[in-house]
Amino acid sequence: MVDKILVSIIVPTYKERENIPELISRIDKIRGSVGFDIELIIVDDDSQDGSEEYVNSLSLPWCRIYVRKNERGLSSAVLKGFELASGEILVVMDADLSHPPEKIVDMVQLLQSGEADMVVGSRYVPGASTDEEWGLLRRINSIVATLLAKPLTSVKDPMSGFFALKKQLLKNTAPLNPTGYKIGLELLVKCPVKKIVEVPIHFAQRAHGKSKLTLKEQINYLIHLRRLYFYKYENLTYFLHFAIVGFSGTIVNLIVLTLLVLLGIPVRASVALAIVVAMLSNFILNRWLTFPHARESPWLPQLLGFVSACSLGAVVNYITVLLLLYLFPLFEKIPQIPALIGILAGLIFNFVLSKNFVFKKWQD
Ligand code: GDD
Ligand code: MN
Repeated sequence: MVDKILVSIIVPTYKERENIPELISRIDKIRGSVGFDIELIIVDDDSQDGSEEYVNSLSLPWCRIYVRKNERGLSSAVLKGFELASGEILVVMDADLSHPPEKIVDMVQLLQSGEADMVVGSRYVPGASTDEEWGLLRRINSIVATLLAKPLTSVKDPMSGFFALKKQLLKNTAPLNPTGYKIGLELLVKCPVKKIVEVPIHFAQRAHGKSKLTLKEQINYLIHLRRLYFYKYENLTYFLHFAIVGFSGTIVNLIVLTLLVLLGIPVRASVALAIVVAMLSNFILNRWLTFPHARESPWLPQLLGFVSACSLGAVVNYITVLLLLYLFPLFEKIPQIPALIGILAGLIFNFVLSKNFVFKKWQD
């Protein structure tokens, strides 16, 4: 007889004492009826609500609870579970019974047959449904969060906390950074997955207790997204940040100009001062946001370099416009078009200098 494969189900918990009994009994039901073995690993962040005592009192050979005393966080708890797991297949799900444990059977089957190397329990594929009656705000919030992740993965429900993968896959995965809630998204981006299948699930209303998704987690999500974008589209992401900072500089310029003129400063002096302030604000934002590694090097040479790059960028901008006017006399009538192209050329030039010289990464 061939040995059955082992499936490790990892459930991160924080104050889920009331949900644990049903979770265990539903998993126990599928355990008896499928062709694979199951181990259940609950990773609890010291909830102090009797979860630990309860699970230990059951003394089930296939189910244990690991209590972390000094750490908190859904994603890092899941990674701890991966470490503890001895199965070939890893499944991650929530404890609150939003995710139907019964779906694990299909998920494992897809992995075993080789049809998938990662399976996501999805709320957004045909056949899926949800109990959650979300208010307009929460819905918009969720749609925006999902849209922001679109360029990172083709999965329809990249926010899902219910997924399964072969443990093997983790061997070739870039280092994982377990902040925030979206460990599934992190894996989708960093694992060398070729075949991802989404299975429709019924996303049930949380059985007991309340959600731990706070505003802090939403901010964490944005920080996490930014990091994943850098990981996946390094240069493009740098450029986008640089362009957004550049745009903010235009606004700073106009605001400062308006204020100075209101204060009675002569227009020509105001224009010049506004340019200086905008350039400084761009410098600070680029140093802190676009190229955060630059904070470790002295700022004065960077400032001088940045001012030079901006000035050269302006020259490139001007030359581009002159060249376009010379090549296409038609543009004389609509100088806004060559001006826009000039701005873009200057921006790209400035970006290349800034990234490769001014805010250069020294150690790599
Ligand atoms: N160990 C540990 N530590 N577990 C945690 C922590 C923590 O700090 N925070 C939350 N959990 C556990 C919860 O106990 C639960 O089992 C699971 O993680 C999900 O937490 P919920 O509080 O139920 O999250 P949610 O319902 O708002 O979010 C779920 O649905 C989202 C999609 O709408 C999660 O599955 C998200 O990953 C998913 O994006
Ligand atoms: Mn939940």
